[in-house]
Parts: sequence; C-alpha cells; structure tokens
Amino acid sequence: MAKIIEGKRCASNLKIKITRQANYLQEKHGIIPGLAVVLVGQDPASQVYVRNKGKQAKECGITSIEHKLDTNTSDQELLELIAKLNQDPVVNGILVQLPLPNHIDSAKVLKAIDSTKDVDGFHPVNVGLLSIGDKGMIPCTPLGSLMLLQEHLGDLSGKHAVIIGRSNIVGKPMFNLLLQHNCTVTVAHSRTCNLEYTIQSADIVVAAVGVPQLIKGSWLKPGAVVIDVGINRIKTALGTTKLVGDVDFDSAIDIASAITPVPGGVGPMTIACLLYNTLIATCRQHQIEMLTT
Ligand code: GUN
Repeated sequence: MAKIIEGKRCASNLKIKITRQANYLQEKHGIIPGLAVVLVGQDPASQVYVRNKGKQAKECGITSIEHKLDTNTSDQELLELIAKLNQDPVVNGILVQLPLPNHIDSAKVLKAIDSTKDVDGFHPVNVGLLSIGDKGMIPCTPLGSLMLLQEHLGDLSGKHAVIIGRSNIVGKPMFNLLLQHNCTVTVAHSRTCNLEYTIQSADIVVAAVGVPQLIKGSWLKPGAVVIDVGINRIKTALGTTKLVGDVDFDSAIDIASAITPVPGGVGPMTIACLLYNTLIATCRQHQIEMLTT
C-alpha cells in the first residue's frame, strides 16, 4: 500500500515559513509583499482559484490586489493595466489568470509582464533562465511537485522520471527542473506510442495530461513515486460528480510506494509556491536575503 503524499500538510509547512519571512520583511524593512491577480471574464473555476489565492495570501501577510475585468476587455486595456502594475512599487508579483478569453493574445500578455514580477514563471525570460539553470521564477505547479518529490525521496539523482504532458505550464518546466536535479527524464504526451511501455521503467511518474484516470496501476514499476497533477471532474455511477486525477488512484495505490491524492496533493502546493515566488520576487527587488528557516 502506497504512502499518501500529503500536499496539504507540506503546503501548510511552506506557508508557515512564508509568513515568518513576510513578518520579517515588514518588521525589519517596512515592506509588505504585494501580489496583483488579474482575472478577465467569468470562468467559474478561475474565480474559485483567484478567491483562494487572495485568501491564502492575506493569511501569510501578503497583500493581494485583485483586478477583475469584463470578458470583453481588449488586449489594449489589459496591456495598459499590466504596464501600470509593472510600474507600481507596491506590486511585487503579477499573475494573469489563465485561460484568457479567446480574443486576447495570451502570449503577448504574458510577455508584457515585467519578468522580475512574473510569479508564474511564464515570461520567455524566465522560461530561458530555467532552461539554462539560472536564477529566475519557477512555475508554481512544477516547483510544488518537485518539493513533494524531494520531501519523499530526498536526492533525486539518477532516478528515471517520466512526465506525461508537454504543456508550457507543467510538462516543459517540470522537464527542466528534474533534469537540473540529475534525473533521467522522458517526456511523453498524447502522441507517444505505447505509453504503458514508457512508464514501465519510471521511478518517478508526473502525470499532467488532463485525461481522467488514464494511467493504471498495472503500468507502474513497483515502488514508483507518483505525482498526479491532473484535476478532472467526472460523473459517478450515482449521477453525482467527483474530482479525479490523471492516475487511476485505486489501482495505483497497490503498486506505487507513494502517491499524491486528488484533491489535496499538488493543488495546495501550487498556491503555496505562488506565495513563495511572491516573497522571492519581493526580496530580489529590494536586494534582501531570504531567511533560510
Ligand atoms: N490557470 C491554471 N493554472 C494556472 C497557473 O498556474 N497560473 C495562471 N496564471 N493561470 C492558471
């Protein structure tokens, strides 16, 4: 029976450290870290995420400034808001909630964010810095997944990691992070032939493909560590709905040595890492060393 990797507990511990650092910044330097969250439109899932981010930021001593814009907002209006936030000294981090409405050019918007305030790590400068192993902003979900892996396994050197999914938000940055931590990394995706065979030799499986319960326990190497990034809502036989990951949890739990649950696994770590990135951005902008504990 696999150990359950408790993302919720790990996120709480990280938030305690963030709160301590935020209190230190305020007491010693009179600085309160500020996070601007921009939401365009009415997407219900995005509204829930944004509310959670704001609430948890406040709990950690970070000011959260929400900008809710109408679905019909033009590229120009959104770019003007970002230019203002880039210039605002009380804003240390900027997050534009994705997905944006179809008429908005998302790539252009992400590029407009000052890369030192890009707490999502999606700006091309940060993507490049991560790929050469230099100091930038690391996307929150891959960073949270890495922290969970390190907490469970310690050193990751020499492990074979298979990532399923090649998105800019998870798969690609996860590849760079695991490579930096000396894993041998395979990236599988929707066109991979014989996924089952590819996964068979993985010591670490990171599932971020968005297909409910795709990966079966019988595909896993016994003792594999499974990080399930998927969040999919499915209908049950009773006609209700429930959240499931990209891994078939009930069969995987008998084969893996450790697995993240959905919900309560990677999800809480993503928000905690967003707050952590906000703190890092604030410290770098003011040239202040982070507390280590
Ligand atoms: N939408 C889903 N995940 C994310 C994320 O990590 N960052 C942003 N900005 N939008 C998202």
